[in-house]
Amino acid sequence: MTEILTPRLMLRRWHEDDLVPLSEINGDPEVMRWIGDGSVHDLDETAEDIERWEEEWDEEGFGVFAVELLGSGELIGAVGLSMPDYLPEVYPNVEIIWRLGRQYWGQGYASEAAQATLEFALQDRGLDRVVAINRAGNDESENVIRKLGMVLERDTTYPGQGHLLQIHSIDLTEYEA
Ligand SMILES: CC(C)(COP(=O)(O)OP(=O)(O)OC[C@H]1O[C@@H](n2cnc3c(N)ncnc32)[C@H](O)[C@@H]1OP(=O)(O)O)[C@@H](O)C(=O)NCCC(=O)NCCS
Repeated sequence: MTEILTPRLMLRRWHEDDLVPLSEINGDPEVMRWIGDGSVHDLDETAEDIERWEEEWDEEGFGVFAVELLGSGELIGAVGLSMPDYLPEVYPNVEIIWRLGRQYWGQGYASEAAQATLEFALQDRGLDRVVAINRAGNDESENVIRKLGMVLERDTTYPGQGHLLQIHSIDLTEYEA
């Protein structure tokens, strides 16, 4: 079982009990504003998210972690690695993603989980390169990308939607947390 501990967080695979707290996060329009078509995900769609991430874990040996706060044990969101199916031009690169409940923003948790994810990508999975795909205007996400030391590679557009996307990457062989 894959579990990572950071000073304040546990990154782990998904449990049944995560469905309701993740659906509350996924039901917040502010959280979902820059994700996919920007619509919120209801309980069924949240179950599909978890199922997709768990399938990825089984098939690829990496995936999106459930992020839990140490101490209270509350689920604060999802951070991890995913194949960007919506943007085939990026293949075979793996994407790092992050999504936290709004009450957990501004406390450094996303960056803490993302750093641990990059270390996992390199040390456990031998990935030497990870990309981050950010919708232009998502400044909070851009800030995490910048702090991780990821560099802007190119702009592209979201297929079928036309939104401007910025592709950043990091060479993990050079990465130092
Ligand atoms: C993108 C997102 C994950 C960023 O979360 P975040 O909380 O802003 O990011 P961080 O973890 O880097 O924390 C940010 C701030 O916490 C503050 N902070 C407070 N305590 C801290 C601590 N102990 N350690 C570090 N930072 C701390 C810092 O000031 C930091 O801001 P700064 O970098 O300007 O100094 C969040 O906005 C989100 O979930 N958005 C919706 C989903 C989304 O759009 N995802 C992107 C598409 S995949």
